[in-house]
Amino acid sequence: MEQPNANTNELHPLVPLHDPPTVEHNHLIHQLESLAYENQSLSNVRTLVAGVAHEIKNPLTIMKGFIQLIKPDLDKLQKSDIADLLLAEVQRTTNLVEEFLQLARPTKHTTERIDLIPFLEDILLLFQSEAKLSKCELTANLQKFKLPIEVMINPGQLKQVFLNVMKNSIEAIRMTNRKNGHISLSVRQQFHFVTINIRDNGNGMDSSTQASVFNPFYTTKEKGTGLGLFLTKQIIQNHNGTVKVKSSPSLGTTISIQLPLLHSS
Ligand SMILES: Nc1ncnc2c1ncn2[C@@H]1O[C@H](COP(=O)(O)OP(=O)(O)OP(=O)(O)O)[C@@H](O)[C@H]1O
Ligand SMILES: [Mg+2]
Repeated sequence: MEQPNANTNELHPLVPLHDPPTVEHNHLIHQLESLAYENQSLSNVRTLVAGVAHEIKNPLTIMKGFIQLIKPDLDKLQKSDIADLLLAEVQRTTNLVEEFLQLARPTKHTTERIDLIPFLEDILLLFQSEAKLSKCELTANLQKFKLPIEVMINPGQLKQVFLNVMKNSIEAIRMTNRKNGHISLSVRQQFHFVTINIRDNGNGMDSSTQASVFNPFYTTKEKGTGLGLFLTKQIIQNHNGTVKVKSSPSLGTTISIQLPLLHSS
């Protein structure tokens, strides 16, 4: 299992343990305890995710077979669009399950060299209609980048990250019932890193919610599973990056994702 990212979980240099307990000692012990807890929950969730994903795959295969079987009958009734829609949905779920399985097997984490700007443009395009449906304006500062911003990423996993984060933003804006919902995506290049900020003017979070958002199964939503940001953090850490949250109930939320650049600027 990979170690939690050094940027977010920096340990103090080891202090000799024969000294009387100091504030430093207690702080170190507290950090080690929370790392152990985090590793144990991560391992439990991995096993659970792999188990559930595996079990979902079987009925999906059966559903796909049956739809294909009744497709000619539906075609005759001029209802082929229903079969196509069902097949597309089954395929989408299968892909999602595959992604979950891939995540549960971190050793199979494969990356490729990607130019971040067109990659993000494609994601925005994908998300545009969803944002429009929720009457949210979606803006980005991508045009200003003339040179490639190259990163080594697993595109499927990173796509899942941005969709998770933007879906949360839309849900947060919906909670406010505001008419001027806005999500902005901004990219900033700094030395060895690129930072992508996703900001929304949704309902925001108080400090106790903020402290828990990356915990598995933490949700404040009636129909939430509380895995979106947990998986987001795991994926970003697998990419040697960091993810941070800054939020206030009155201003909204910013999620900052930092990834290492392939070439420093
Ligand atoms: N942009 C945001 N604005 C306000 N609250 C947020 C935002 N993003 C996350 N949260 C809070 O963090 C919690 C955890 O988010 P997370 O995405 O992990 O789970 P979820 O959205 O509740 O469920 P799901 O697993 O379906 O994504 C949310 O329930 C919500 O309280
Ligand atoms: Mg979510």
